[in-house]
Amino acid sequence: MQGNVRPETMERITTEALANAFIDEQVKALQAQIGDKKVLLALSGGVDSSVVAALLIKAVGQQLVCVHVNHGLLRKGEPEQVIEVFRNQMNANLVYVDAVDRFLDKLAGVAEPEQKRKIIGAEFIRVFEEEARKQEGINFLAQGTIYPDILESDGVKAHHNVGGLPEDLQFELVEPLKFLFKDEVRVVGKALGLPDGMVYRQPFPGPGLGVRCLGAITRDRLEAVRESDAILREEFAKNGLEGKVWQYFTAVPDFKSVGVKDGKRTFAYPVIIRAVNTKDAMTATVENVPFELLQHITQRITTEVENVNRVLYDLTPKPSGTIEWE
Ligand code: XMP
Repeated sequence: MQGNVRPETMERITTEALANAFIDEQVKALQAQIGDKKVLLALSGGVDSSVVAALLIKAVGQQLVCVHVNHGLLRKGEPEQVIEVFRNQMNANLVYVDAVDRFLDKLAGVAEPEQKRKIIGAEFIRVFEEEARKQEGINFLAQGTIYPDILESDGVKAHHNVGGLPEDLQFELVEPLKFLFKDEVRVVGKALGLPDGMVYRQPFPGPGLGVRCLGAITRDRLEAVRESDAILREEFAKNGLEGKVWQYFTAVPDFKSVGVKDGKRTFAYPVIIRAVNTKDAMTATVENVPFELLQHITQRITTEVENVNRVLYDLTPKPSGTIEWE
């Protein structure tokens, strides 16, 4: 597909049959474009990069080299799911890079949100570049660009942004989803056999938990964000809120308060719960989560998560708040 405008004749992909037709057409186009060469893909495990990976595995199999960078800011279970689905189930050629210490060392002491984002983005490109250099004979770079990325920006999305690679690593781009809207990407992902947990997941920012561990990131608070987020997700799923609430997560600020546990004074962090609904992320309303459920989640977080003694619910719509805290 040429150019950056979705062809008017392109039917909206709403059914499995339409998804299968799209997949067949793309597989042929990808095989023609790639031939016997190799393609590199930064596979975050998000919806878009996962669907691109599944499509390319179908088209060129082992000629696809997926690089999954664990920067330590992923949700609980995410790196494991990427390995399970792509390496174990789909037999993908997957390079797993444990860059946790590297990212956390770079981020140590940095409190300013945009500075944090810059460091995470720049370090990601550096790690990816190193992995790209280890590979022989790569001609193509696949990206999970989707149509809203093209409509809203310069076509390069923040969390797939490997566009900062040096001159000698300027590969030809492969962007099979570039005319699809998010709902269509999900239908295609489902038709490709990806698990629901991957296809229907809520939005997750490129800098990951890094912007939810507020201020300068420390390992203890990062763990508190990850564990409390896992409890929140589990409870929302159990109580029918998954898929109903647009985005929900926890954040941990960089201050402590006094509490009491087992008759002893504690000095620990609060966890903030945020659950919002929106159409386009420009404005958002707060989900009316049942009070008993909030009490239950509070009970679980304060007993199961280390270094936490309070739970707060964020009642702020956007505006005046943003969805994320940083
Ligand atoms: P805000 O906080 O601006 O968020 O109301 C709107 C939507 O964008 C997501 N978000 C990001 N996504 N990189 C991303 O890829 C980022 O740096 C980033 N910051 C916010 C946020 O999760 C919400 O869905």
